[in-house]
Amino acid sequence: MVTITEDARAHRIDRRIYGQFAEHLGRGVYEGIWVGDDSPIPHHNGIRSDVVAALRAIKVPVVRWPGGCFADDYHWQRGIGPRAERPAVVNFHWGGVVESNHFGTHEYFELLHQLDAEAYICGNVGSGSVTEMRDWVEYITLDGTSPMADLRKRHGRDQPWRLHFFGVGNESWGCGGNMRPQYYADLYRRYQTYVRPYGEFPIYKVACGANDNDYEWTEVLMTQAGRFMDGLSLHYYTIPSGDFSAKGSAIDFDDHEWYATIRQARRIEELLARHCAIMDTHDPDKRVGLIVDEWGTWYDRAPGTNPGFLEQPNTIRDAMVAALTFNRFHRYADRVRMANIAQMVNVLQALLHTDGPVMVRTPTYYAFALYTDHHDALFVDARPDSGDAPGTIGAHGEYTVSWKDDAYTVTVTNAGLEEEVDATFDLPGRITTVHRDQILLGERPNSQNTVADPNEVVLTEFNDYRIDGSRLRMTVPPHSIVTLRVSHA
Ligand code: AHR
Repeated sequence: MVTITEDARAHRIDRRIYGQFAEHLGRGVYEGIWVGDDSPIPHHNGIRSDVVAALRAIKVPVVRWPGGCFADDYHWQRGIGPRAERPAVVNFHWGGVVESNHFGTHEYFELLHQLDAEAYICGNVGSGSVTEMRDWVEYITLDGTSPMADLRKRHGRDQPWRLHFFGVGNESWGCGGNMRPQYYADLYRRYQTYVRPYGEFPIYKVACGANDNDYEWTEVLMTQAGRFMDGLSLHYYTIPSGDFSAKGSAIDFDDHEWYATIRQARRIEELLARHCAIMDTHDPDKRVGLIVDEWGTWYDRAPGTNPGFLEQPNTIRDAMVAALTFNRFHRYADRVRMANIAQMVNVLQALLHTDGPVMVRTPTYYAFALYTDHHDALFVDARPDSGDAPGTIGAHGEYTVSWKDDAYTVTVTNAGLEEEVDATFDLPGRITTVHRDQILLGERPNSQNTVADPNEVVLTEFNDYRIDGSRLRMTVPPHSIVTLRVSHA
């Protein structure tokens, strides 16, 4: 049994850990978000309406853009002004396809406006100048008169936009310039100086952080540049084999690969613990946030697709990876202030797939939907009486609990393939109301949603629970995720 006490309420779970990442990569932005003003696909100002409606329903809080590796090759001035006059360039990182620059700064802020989400722009350190980065921030945020503000106005936008988050380079240890941490730390100090908050609002500056278990990178950045940053990023991808050269199939996997994927997903716990421990030694007050601005599954690409487009099917296994990752973000949310799944539409562990005018919600989308009541709630550090590790029930069960608006939200995952998980929670009082009871269940471990069958894996009502005074007992079937939200007397 898991006992929930009022004094177990701990830190706030920032809704931004449910953030998204949209890169100019394959069909992520073009087709997936942007269809243009003259498209027969229903849109508003060129942005497809089905995608916006689906994302609004899960309360997307923030969207990171324009990359990724693309960000360090992106020159923002090519993406403003009349679209017909914008130069077409080559997207070298992702398939060598033509980048029309039709989706640029104005279109990005229009997307955010339609989603009611915050901005997280990644600036170009790898191939861009300090001046270019400085001017972009001025273009976006300066009210009044200046060369950049005047240029923005000439392109039809009088008021500045709110720029909440700004990343100073992406993967500067790799595609963003192949730098050593000492060198990047100095560059970060220099570039961030010119990321000025021209308007009344501060800009939260994110330094490029480590890949996976590169703890030296975190140590050097915190030592040499910690006082100049608000956040430090971390990238971690769940790859079933752990080997980038032969990652494994997204859809055609056996039990062994299922469990290998679950193990790889749970590995993020060790990464969070160790990166946070390093940050704690430099920043015991936890001023600097850990920003996991790329995470998710990465498999071998779908057969027949462009290798540079990173398209992969999405199954209940992906939803499980998302849930296991959220559980860990909740536990470390006193340091983890934002995360951005890679990626929002059509790329890697996408929430949405599009095929022409058709849009399909993936199982990962529904995992996000199941966790919306945890947004901005207080994490409840409820411990199991069994002596199992916090948050776990046996080998395959997990739970996470939060408290908001006088109700507890309990989410239980069963990552096993055979056995049910029986879970009992004892609340601080008699349970009076059930606000939500939903399950996401795959009939098979690789159940997915497709254009032909878009509703194979969807949220349904969950009935296999009972309330006995202050106790909430439930039986959670294999490869499923359950959310119950209850209040008590
Ligand atoms: O998300 C795909 C790519 O993965 C990003 O562009 C890059 O930052 C990372 O290596």
